[in-house]
Amino acid sequence: MQIYVLFVCLGNICRSPTAHGLFQDKVNQANLNGKIIVDSAGTGSWHQGSPPDERTQATALSRGYDISSLKARQVKQRDFNTFDYILAMDLDNLHQLTLLKPDTYKGTLGLFLDVAGINHDNGQGLEVPDPYYGGREHFEKVLHLVETGAEALLERIRSEHGLENA
Ligand code: 4NP
Repeated sequence: MQIYVLFVCLGNICRSPTAHGLFQDKVNQANLNGKIIVDSAGTGSWHQGSPPDERTQATALSRGYDISSLKARQVKQRDFNTFDYILAMDLDNLHQLTLLKPDTYKGTLGLFLDVAGINHDNGQGLEVPDPYYGGREHFEKVLHLVETGAEALLERIRSEHGLENA
């Protein structure tokens, strides 16, 4: 059985491709790349087919993650048939996903950092904030939050599915 994980933000060019790339890297390092399938999407459609934002790519590359081959797509209701974990970057994204979610969905729909068990800033800031109109530090913050969250999420998924370290 494979485990399908989908990261979702607004445009699928900043936050969710960062999560997609970093989490994929952690999955690969754990030798779980046939077992855990990773994807990302946006609630909006404007950037479909585009690679990640250049600022996002540069920030990721500065820490050794090449996410240049990813392409944006919009989340679809049928994603709920495939993905066991659908993880929103912020509360707006989560709200949009809640509107799409079929009543029969049995997977985990939630905020990425919440599901990962990360509680930043004394309980505040469970969202990964939108960096699109921000400066370099906003992109750095996204990378930092996602890096911490990706590690913790992999631990949670491993323990939920009995994929403990060999
Ligand atoms: P993302 O960032 O949701 O992290 O990909 C954004 C990308 C594009 C826009 C907003 C946020 N936009 O307004 O085009």
